[in-house]
Amino acid sequence: MIKKIFSGVQPTGNLHLGNYLGAIKNFVELNDDNENNCIFCVVDLHAITVKQDPKKLRDNIRETVATFIACGIDPKKSIIFNQSTVSAHSEAAWLLSCVARMGWLNRMTQFKEKAGKDKEKASIGLYSYPILMAADILLYDTTHVPVGEDQKQHLELCRDIAQKFNNDYNVDDFLKVPEPLIQKEFSRIMSLKDGSKKMSKSELSDLSRINLTDNNEDIINKIKKAKTDPLPLPANTDELVDRPEARNLLGIYSSINNITLDKSVNEFNGKNFSEFKEKLSQVLVEKLNPISLEIKRLTDDKSFLDKILLEGQKKANYIASKKLKKMQEIVGF
Ligand code: AMP
Ligand code: TRP
Repeated sequence: MIKKIFSGVQPTGNLHLGNYLGAIKNFVELNDDNENNCIFCVVDLHAITVKQDPKKLRDNIRETVATFIACGIDPKKSIIFNQSTVSAHSEAAWLLSCVARMGWLNRMTQFKEKAGKDKEKASIGLYSYPILMAADILLYDTTHVPVGEDQKQHLELCRDIAQKFNNDYNVDDFLKVPEPLIQKEFSRIMSLKDGSKKMSKSELSDLSRINLTDNNEDIINKIKKAKTDPLPLPANTDELVDRPEARNLLGIYSSINNITLDKSVNEFNGKNFSEFKEKLSQVLVEKLNPISLEIKRLTDDKSFLDKILLEGQKKANYIASKKLKKMQEIVGF
């Protein structure tokens, strides 16, 4: 079976190590193994579900494209485009919002987290966000969606929406039910300041994350200041259960080196954090420095990035508008 890959990243700035290890690193492998069958989308319609500064949003859209390319996604092998430039996404989202049920959306934990205490003040867009995400995926007959663990529930909703559309309109297998591709071991990279919280773009303290644009000094400094516990590093993974910070840092070390957690634990068995942190900074600098330099070089070349987006738009629009037309016919338009 030919795999068709689709994923999206919001252009909300501060792309970090969690985005890289949880999602983008996986995109790069898929891009190499599935030439001409991967689509990577900069989801600006999703970004405005919370308030954005228009000037910054425009810059962040280009920076996200630059990051994709700097991390190794090849625009000759994959489609890279900007969601709002393909109007089928908004149109399909409406059709699907008439199929999705309130009860399903009410279960979404990301909405609850992002809306906070005062849900009445959250935007309608933030609430219906997963329906737009389903439209993104279903318009391209996607078979596999590489995402971090936090998007698993949205993927399940997407599957439910596809199945209900097919059932309601008696069009067996018209919308393809996609599979999530979530890394087994390191699908959730945690904050450097608190091992129980996800590493996030929106966290106030910059020390909580490693941004893909950080320079070497920033990286070394952030790892030095990363929270740890008073014990030496453990002899086996079972001992990491109640040590979220140690687990996270060892997880980062394993993921960036493409080795198992077991192997990293063996390497640092009984050593102290300062020795481990030195090794960790070293490998992070080695892997991330070329990426950050390339992001900077590419963001200065706006016309190159705009050209990539325009080519991507044409290709994506061709696929999505055909699927949308069929959806419209099916519902009776
Ligand atoms: P976002 O920045 O929310 O658009 O997320 C882009 C991708 O990065 C999604 O696939 C997320 O699941 C993934 N991601 C975001 N934060 C993390 C994290 N802390 N650990 C692992 N994956 C993450
Ligand atoms: N909701 C995803 C996130 O915040 C981004 C996204 C939008 C996405 N549309 C998508 C991911 C389609 C995968 C497929 O991380």
